[in-house]
Amino acid sequence: MAASLQLNCKPFAPLLLHSKPASKRVPRFSTVRCCAAAPSKSYNITLLSGDGIGPEVISVAKSALQLVASLEGFEFKFKEVPVGGAALDLTGVPLPEETLSTAKDSDAVLLGAIGGYKWDNNEKHLKPETGLLQLRAGLKVFANLRPATVLPQLVDASTLKKDVAEGVDLMVVRELTGGIYFGKPRGFSTNENGEEIGFNTEVYSSHEASMLWRKRVTALSSEYPDVELSHMYVDNAAMQLVRNPKQFDTIVTNNIFGDILSDEASMITGSIGMLPSASIGESGPGLFEPIHGSAPDIAGQDKANPLATVLSAAMLLRYGLGEEKAARRIEAAVLDTLDRGYRTGDIYSAGQKLVGCKEMGEQVLKSIDSKVVTPV
Ligand code: IPM
Ligand code: MG
Repeated sequence: MAASLQLNCKPFAPLLLHSKPASKRVPRFSTVRCCAAAPSKSYNITLLSGDGIGPEVISVAKSALQLVASLEGFEFKFKEVPVGGAALDLTGVPLPEETLSTAKDSDAVLLGAIGGYKWDNNEKHLKPETGLLQLRAGLKVFANLRPATVLPQLVDASTLKKDVAEGVDLMVVRELTGGIYFGKPRGFSTNENGEEIGFNTEVYSSHEASMLWRKRVTALSSEYPDVELSHMYVDNAAMQLVRNPKQFDTIVTNNIFGDILSDEASMITGSIGMLPSASIGESGPGLFEPIHGSAPDIAGQDKANPLATVLSAAMLLRYGLGEEKAARRIEAAVLDTLDRGYRTGDIYSAGQKLVGCKEMGEQVLKSIDSKVVTPV
């Protein structure tokens, strides 16, 4: 911890620089940290721990956010609300009204993971995953950024050969609020032979693209002459990702293909436990979440890799709040922690220090505190 800022804590009136009326803002969020000098900015963050390993990884990311805020001279006010299975158990629905309105009222939303065996057989509208889709739709966060970078420290954890994986640094830009995930009609029926059928609709409007993908993107490309554009069918893209992933810089794709390709890309980097994401819309708060799931098989055992969520917190700082230097502090700390040999089970290799989620978090905090980041 930064002793100079954390010692002699006493309550203070945070200086709020938001456009929202104070009456709406202050009572809903509790101040969670204090420092010697009043911070110059305050941000309201909605925390959605969710299910499975969600609470464990969110707790680490929250500590990292608090520490960088104290170092950068701003503060966070966190409000934790339920989503997914946790919300189903508490309220009977996967996205309670209050969760969505709290998220909408905040400056950014950080989510852990949702889902678990317990709710697997629920009807669709009562599945944890439905809550996540409702949240994305409710926040209108249509652009989902999923970076996949092979870190030099983890190149041996990749399932691909070293010379194929080394140096991969790509971004999947996934459309997030359209396509088959939301298209109607959908459902189950019986065909003329009396056989049961299921149907979904892959539908896109022009602001979301897809069917209109080639046309829209080609038209837009003339406005960006410095961007080289090529089109690829998704089956070929899936193949090329494991054949020669370095050919990709940015992959712009629809909702379902982006879901699949980003999971595929994650394995190139060594572990899905490393990959963050940012979902942003035209205005309003962004939603930041690791791309991994709730891993119910290791939940509550202090085995989860918190780094994808910590890196999602860095994306929150960069894309959600414009706090570039704080974002870089977190990213530098993650690299430093890996350099010092700390590994959770998913990225462990012989000779490294195997640690649990909590210890990994503590090491990241240590690195945040000690790693000097040059000003932007
Ligand atoms: C993801 C997940 C979700 C999705 C599920 C949990 C609904 O796989 O964020 O990639 O398909 O978008
Ligand atoms: Mg997915």
